[in-house]
Amino acid sequence: MSKKVLVTGGSGYIGSHTLVDLIENGYEVISVDNNARSTIGMLEGVEKITGQKIKNYKVDLCNFEETRAIFEENPAIAGVIHFAAYKAVGESVEQPLLYFHNNMQSLIHVMQCIEEFKIPNFVFSSSCTVYGNPDAIPVTEETPRKQAESPYGLTKQMGEQMIEAFAAANKDLSAILLRYFNPAGAHASALIGELPIDRPQNLTPVITQTAIGKIEKLTVFGNDYTTRDGSCIRDMIHVCDLAHAHTLALNYLIQGKHQNNCEVFNIGSGDGITVLECIHAFEATTGVKLNYVIGPRRPGDVIAIYANNDKAKKVLGWSPQHDINDIMSSAWKWEQYIQDLPTHLHLPNKRLN
Ligand code: WQD
Repeated sequence: MSKKVLVTGGSGYIGSHTLVDLIENGYEVISVDNNARSTIGMLEGVEKITGQKIKNYKVDLCNFEETRAIFEENPAIAGVIHFAAYKAVGESVEQPLLYFHNNMQSLIHVMQCIEEFKIPNFVFSSSCTVYGNPDAIPVTEETPRKQAESPYGLTKQMGEQMIEAFAAANKDLSAILLRYFNPAGAHASALIGELPIDRPQNLTPVITQTAIGKIEKLTVFGNDYTTRDGSCIRDMIHVCDLAHAHTLALNYLIQGKHQNNCEVFNIGSGDGITVLECIHAFEATTGVKLNYVIGPRRPGDVIAIYANNDKAKKVLGWSPQHDINDIMSSAWKWEQYIQDLPTHLHLPNKRLN
C-alpha cells in the first residue's frame, strides 16, 4: 500500500510536528491548511528539519469543491490525519456557532471525500476534554464521555460520535480517535513549536511568554482545589511524543492490526502534575524565575485529569520519551527562537500583545 498521507492542519502546532515524524518514518505527506490560525512559516521549519519540500494546499475545508479537488488530484492516499479545527476553549464559549460550523463542516467534508475516494484509514485529533470532569482518575478509554465543558469540547465529542457512526456504516474504513491530554513543548531544533495567535490561553506558552517578558505576570487560576498543592492537575504530553503516536496509529491501521474499525486511544504521559509543579519545573530547568500570582479559579476548568495510557503502550507500541523538564526546556528554547524572528516569518496574522 502507498504511504501517501494527507494531513489537514499541517501548519499547526501538532500538525507540523506530526509531518516531521511521518516523513522521518518513510511517509509521503500532503498538507492542507488555509493558515487561518497558523503560519506558513511553520512548514518552512518542517522543511528545514526534514530537508523535504512540503506540498500544502491553502484550502478552507469548509469549501467542499476545493477540498474534493485535493483528493481528485492525489490518488492512492493511504490515510488521512485530521487536525484542522479551532481549539480555543474561551473563544468557543463566546462564539459557539463559529466552532460548530468550522469544526464540524470541515470534518463532514473530509469524511465525504474519504467515502467517495475510498480512503482506507483515518486518524482523528480528539481530546481528553471529552471526559469532562472525570469521577475517577486516571481515565481509561472506557471512562464515559461526560458533558463537555465548552463548545470546543462539544465539537470533539460530536466529531468522535460522527466518526463512530461513519465507521459503522463503512466497513472498508478503519478509524482511530486519539484523545490528547495537554500537548506542550517543541521540537528539539526549535524550528517549530506552539504559536498562539493572540494572548495564549494554554499554560506552557503563558509560562514562556511570562519568562521572556511578553506577559508581565502569570496568574495561577486557583490554588484552593482539593489537590496536593491546591492547583489543578493535568497530564502534560510532549508534542513530539504526541506526533509519534499518529505515525504508530497509521502503521497499526495500514498493517491491518486493528481489532475493529473504530478504536480510541488516550495519548498522555500517564503522570498527573499540578500547575504549580509545572511552574517550578520551568524555573528549575531553565533557571528563569517566573513572576506569578495566585488568582481566582477559571470557570470551566477541570480539577484533575490525567491518562491511563496502557492501551496505547500495549497496542500501538507507543510510550512517551520526554518528561516535564524536556517540555519546559524545549518550549523555552522555542520562545527565545521566535523572539528574534521577523514577524512575517513566524508570528501569525495578529501581533502578540
Ligand atoms: C491547564 C491548567 C489552568 C493558563 C485545554 C483544552 C484541551 C486542550 C488543551 C486543545 C488549568 C491553568 C492556564 C494560565 C493557569 N486544547 N492555567 N494560568 O484547559 O487543561 O486544556 O487546552 O487541544 O482540550 O481544554 O489547558 O493549558 O489552558 O490549562 O493557571 O495562565 O493551567 O487553570 O488548570 P486545559 P490550559
